[in-house]
Order: sequence, then structure tokens, then C-alpha cells
Amino acid sequence: MRVDVLTLFPEVFEPALQSSIPGIAARKGIVSYHLHNIRDYSLEKHHKVDDRPYGGGPGMVLRCEPAFRAYEAVRAMDERPGRLLLLTPQGRRFEQAVAREFASSPRLILLCGHYEGFDERIRVGLPAEEVSIGDYVLSGGEIAAMVIIDAVVRLLPGVLGHEESAQKDSFSEALLEHPQYTRPPEFRGMAVPEVLLSGNHGRIEDWRKAQAALRTQDRRVDLLTCLDEKQENG
Ligand SMILES: C[S@@+](CC[C@H](N)C(=O)[O-])C[C@H]1O[C@@H](n2cnc3c(N)ncnc32)[C@H](O)[C@@H]1O
Repeated sequence: MRVDVLTLFPEVFEPALQSSIPGIAARKGIVSYHLHNIRDYSLEKHHKVDDRPYGGGPGMVLRCEPAFRAYEAVRAMDERPGRLLLLTPQGRRFEQAVAREFASSPRLILLCGHYEGFDERIRVGLPAEEVSIGDYVLSGGEIAAMVIIDAVVRLLPGVLGHEESAQKDSFSEALLEHPQYTRPPEFRGMAVPEVLLSGNHGRIEDWRKAQAALRTQDRRVDLLTCLDEKQENG
């Protein structure tokens, strides 16, 4: 997969994309990251990219020309058109199912806003899908882009050591994951459930399924309602 990021702050991505699973994925050659500064595509003096909103109001708005020029130049850097994701709190909610959908694309291009957001013609004029990581407002799209890249990249075949591990993560089967334990068997009076030490894989699997269901019922009953609705609708 090729990932292009259009941003005013490319430097904030480097540590996140070089570390942990996103970094391993790049070193294995499964993904390549390409960071582009939108400012480099501004035709204005001092590479200015924003301006005051028409009609008045606070803050600055990202101008059309650098955003369109940046997208068109970056799009042409590879023959795969990819999916253009516009980060905005007004977009489609990013969830695990959306991460799976994006993971099947050979290329993602993420366009990060800043300040008061984008000129509306960027949203209308570019072939963009608007994506939000949740109902809160961040200062810029960079953290949202990193969330999406991390969640997508760990799903790519060959990235995680155990292929199973992404399949068992929370949300993968519309359930939260069961509790996990590692050594020692007892810590400050808290013991690991006996079943996990039993070596009986059938019992362990049953216990994990039951725990995942209980935990979801307890914390996120909305996920179970969604699952019921999906099953009813076939
Ligand atoms: C301060 S926000 C602008 C919010 C805009 N004035 C609005 O109310 O819709 C600046 C940028 O941060 C990014 N951003 C903020 N919250 C986000 C979210 N929940 N999901 C994705 N991107 C977000 C977007 O790229 C946005 O253009």
C-alpha cells in the first residue's frame, strides 16, 4: 500500500510512522509513506496557504489553490489513483469496519486541514471522502490521519506477527476483546483465571468467547444491538 499525506506539518508524522507497527510495516516493504507539505504548492508570496473567511468570523481558512495543486501533483506521482480522504469532524465516522474497507485499497491520500478548516470548494471540487475520527474538534487533521494510518496498516497482510491477532482485536467481530493476562500467575493477590493455565484449548476458547460477550454487554451494549440488526437484515 502507498500512503500519501498532504499536511502543513509533515514533521509530526515521522516519529509515529517510524515506530511500532507502522514502522515495522514500512521496513517490511508492505507500506510506503510519502509526506507532502501543502505549503510547497502555494503560488503566493511566502507560500501563504490560508486567508480570512468571507463574511467575517474568527480564524483562517485553508485556500483552494494550494490544496488543489498539492492533490493534483501528488495524485500524479503514482499510477494508482487511490482514495482521497479529507479529514474533517463533519465526515463519515471512522470505525473498524471502515479501517478494513480502506485496507483493501492499494493507495490512500490523506488531506489534513488546519485553522478553521477548508474552503468549501476543496470538499466539493476534489474527489474526496470526508472522514471524522469522532465527535470532537482537533486543532488539525494530523492526529486524525495518524489514527487512520495506524488502524489501517495493522490490518495489512503480513504486518502483525500473528495474523490472528488483528482478527481477535476488539470490534473485529462486533465484540470487545476478552481480558488478557501474562506472567506472573499471581500479582499482589490478583490471580490469573485458572482456565488460562489449564492448557485445555477448548475450555480457554469458550471462556474467552464468554468473557468477550460479557464485557461487551457490560460496556458497549450498542455493539450488540448493531450486531442483532445486521443479522436480522441478513
Ligand atoms: C479546528 S478544525 C476545524 C473545524 C471546523 N471549523 C468545523 O467546525 O468543522 C481544523 C482541522 O482539524 C481536523 N479535524 C478536527 N477534528 C477532527 C475530527 N474529529 N476528525 C478528523 N479531522 C478533524 C480537520 O482537518 C479540520 O479541518
